[in-house]
Amino acid sequence: MDSSSPSHGASAPRARLPPLASGLPLVGSTPQVLANPIRFLMRARERYGDIYTLDLGVQRMVVLNHPRQHEHVFLTKSKNYLKQGALWDAMRTLLGNGLAVSQGEVWKRQRRMVHPQFHRQRLARITSLMVAAIEDQFERWDEQTRAGQSLDAVPMFAELTMKLLAKSVFGTAVSHESVETLRPEMLYVIKYMVPSMLTQSLPSWVPRPGERRYQQALERIDRLLFSVIEQRRGEPGGSDDLLSMLLEALDEETGLPMQARQLRDETLTLFLAGYETTSVALAWAVHYILEDAAVWRRLREEVEQVLGDREPTFGDMGELKYTRMVIQESLRICPPIWWNPRLAMEDDEIDGYAIPKGSVIAPLTYVVHHHPDVWKDPERFDPLRFASEEGETRHRCAWGPFGIGPRKCVGVEFAMMEAQLVLAMFVRRYDVSRMAGPPVEKAMLGTLRPKAGIPIGLHRRRS
Ligand code: HEM
Repeated sequence: MDSSSPSHGASAPRARLPPLASGLPLVGSTPQVLANPIRFLMRARERYGDIYTLDLGVQRMVVLNHPRQHEHVFLTKSKNYLKQGALWDAMRTLLGNGLAVSQGEVWKRQRRMVHPQFHRQRLARITSLMVAAIEDQFERWDEQTRAGQSLDAVPMFAELTMKLLAKSVFGTAVSHESVETLRPEMLYVIKYMVPSMLTQSLPSWVPRPGERRYQQALERIDRLLFSVIEQRRGEPGGSDDLLSMLLEALDEETGLPMQARQLRDETLTLFLAGYETTSVALAWAVHYILEDAAVWRRLREEVEQVLGDREPTFGDMGELKYTRMVIQESLRICPPIWWNPRLAMEDDEIDGYAIPKGSVIAPLTYVVHHHPDVWKDPERFDPLRFASEEGETRHRCAWGPFGIGPRKCVGVEFAMMEAQLVLAMFVRRYDVSRMAGPPVEKAMLGTLRPKAGIPIGLHRRRS
C-alpha cells in the first residue's frame, strides 16, 4: 500500500507523500513495532527506504533514516521543525519551562543562562566532586563484592550516575539518604514519560494506569528540589556545584536571576536529561568492552599510562583518547536517545517527498548509527572508527547521540567527561567478568537499555 498522492495541477508537479509502511486497519504497524521495535525499524528501512510514513494507529509519523535528512531537519531548516505537538506537551507538564522542552524566546534566554555553566572551566571545577562521588560508590561495590554478590551493571551505573549528578548539581546540600529516596521516584517518572507521551492525545476520561503513582513521585521530587533551592538562596556563593552557578546566573538582557520555579524546572531537567542517558551509556560501554579482550586491554593500558596510581584530573581528559573513543563507539552502537521527534511548522519537502505542515517527524538516530551506507560493518564494535582520520570522511550528521544543531545536548562535555572518568577509574580498579544470565538484548523504551540487565562479577585489583 502506498499513500502517495498523484501529482496534479498545471504548473510544477506536487511532491508525493513518503511511502506508507503497510499495516493493519486502525492500529497500523503498532503490533509489529511493539513486538520488536529494532527489527521492525531496521527491516522497514530496507523495504521502504530512508524515508517512509509509519502508522501507529493513534499517530502517523514520517521516519527519517539518513544523516542527509537529519541535517535538513536539525540544521538547514531547524526553524521549521520544533518540539511541538502532543509528544512534547506531555514532557512540558513535567518539565515546565526547562531547557529541554521550552521554545522561542524563553528557550533562548534559558540556553544563554544555562549553557555557560557547562563550559570547560566550569567542568574543571566539578571534576574533583565527580571523582569523590565515584570513589565513594566504588567502596560500596567493594562491600557488595566482598559479600560475594553478582552485580547487574545497569542498576550499578544508575546508582553511580544519580550520585554523581546529585553531587554535581547540589554539591553537599543533599544527603546520601535524600539521593537514595529520589532515585526510585526519578526512575518512575522516566518510565512513565514515554507511555504518557504516546497517550497524551487521548481524551482526559481515558484511564491512564500509573498516573497516581506518577503524581506522587513528582510531588516528592518537587518537595526536595524546592527545599534545596530555598536553602541555597539563603546562603549565596562559595560552591562549585551547578545549582550555585544557576543561582548566580543573570539574564544578560534584564539583569535578573532565575525565579524558584524556573530553577526547579532547570534542575529537574538536568536530572532527567543527564541521569538515565549517562547510566545506560556506561552500562553499554562495559558490555561491549567485556565482549572484546583486546579493547579491554588497550583501554587499561591507556589508563595506566596516563594516570598511573593518581586520581584523574580535568587535564587528563584530552589524554584519555582511546577511553573517549570507546564511549563514542558505544554511543554509536547503542544511542540512549534513539529518536528525536519534531513537528513540521510549515509545508516542506525532504528528498523530493512532501512534508505537509503538522506532520510528526521521527528522525531515528539508532537507524542512522546502523546504516550500512554510512558505517562499514555497522554491527561491529570498533572504537577506532573514531580515530580522527576515519572520522574526517564521514557525513557530519552520521553520529548524533547528543542531537544536532541549536538544540544539541547542553551536557555533552559534562557527560563525556563523566563517562571518561568512570570508565577509566573502573577498568583500573577492577577485573570484571561476565556472569551467567539471559543474552543481553536492546530494549527501546524511554531510552535504549539492556532488556534484562548485564550481570557481572567484580574483583578488586589493588587498594
Ligand atoms: C550520554 C549522555 C547523554 C546523552 C546521550 C544525551 C542526549 C541528548 C539529546 C539527544 C538531546 C536532545 C537534542 C535535541 O532535542 O535536539 C539532549 C538535550 C539535552 N541534554 Fe543531554 N544527553 C546526555 C547527557 C546529559 C547530561 C549529563 C546533561 C546535564 C547534566 C544533559 C542535559 C541536557 C539538556 C539540558 C538538554 C536540552 C538542550 C536544549 O534543548 O537546549 N544531557 N541530550
